[in-house]
Amino acid sequence: MHIVLPGLAYLALFASATIAIPDIDEEFQKVTCGSSIKLTHEKSHFKLHSHQIPYGTGSGQQSITAVPGKDDTNSLWRVMAQLGHTCDRGEPVPCGSVVRLKHVNTKKFLHSHHHHSPMSGGLEVSAYEGQDDGDNWIVECTNKKEEFWMRESTIYLRHANTGTYLSSSTRHVYGNPIPGQQEVAAHRLQNQGEQNWSAQEGIYFAEKEL
Ligand SMILES: *[C@@H]1O[C@H](CO)[C@@H](O)[C@H](O)[C@H]1NC(C)=O
Repeated sequence: MHIVLPGLAYLALFASATIAIPDIDEEFQKVTCGSSIKLTHEKSHFKLHSHQIPYGTGSGQQSITAVPGKDDTNSLWRVMAQLGHTCDRGEPVPCGSVVRLKHVNTKKFLHSHHHHSPMSGGLEVSAYEGQDDGDNWIVECTNKKEEFWMRESTIYLRHANTGTYLSSSTRHVYGNPIPGQQEVAAHRLQNQGEQNWSAQEGIYFAEKEL
């Protein structure tokens, strides 16, 4: 027999409806085109990162990791439209839309393809300058009430070509020359929170006046 506790359900709804984000101005709550963001892996609080270190396996392209440091300009990514498209600076990003993320310091795009990732047996995620459709990622908002990609909200990034999801895990950590950095790879959707990311600090452009 199931015991229904309506009181608890109401409590849960109430709690999630009242979570406020007090320190962000209304117009900066949406992630907008042209903004440079840091993407936080929620489970580890590490940031999506790249640097001029190539993979020793797989494609040999520039590696992507997740790092603990907050003040690291190698963790800034510019939000751009999908390959062959443009979006206006300040344009909000609808949930379900296709974007590219350009690594600000090295100008390469977050990319994935059919190479194996070094540790977790997923697909490799690299930073690539070739500009092809392997750079396209779909923003999946986990809060179905939201129409746009919101700062601080949990999103998944699904790789458009392979259907796999941007992932990182505290179980897959590199040694030298990048000790303590986590592998970033693309995996099928699992329910362990390893694919939960959110846009937090960064350089945001206010939403355009429509
Ligand atoms: C990951 O996000 C989903 C969707 O918001 C949520 O249900 C789940 O609890 C999150 N997992 C963790 C470990 O935070």
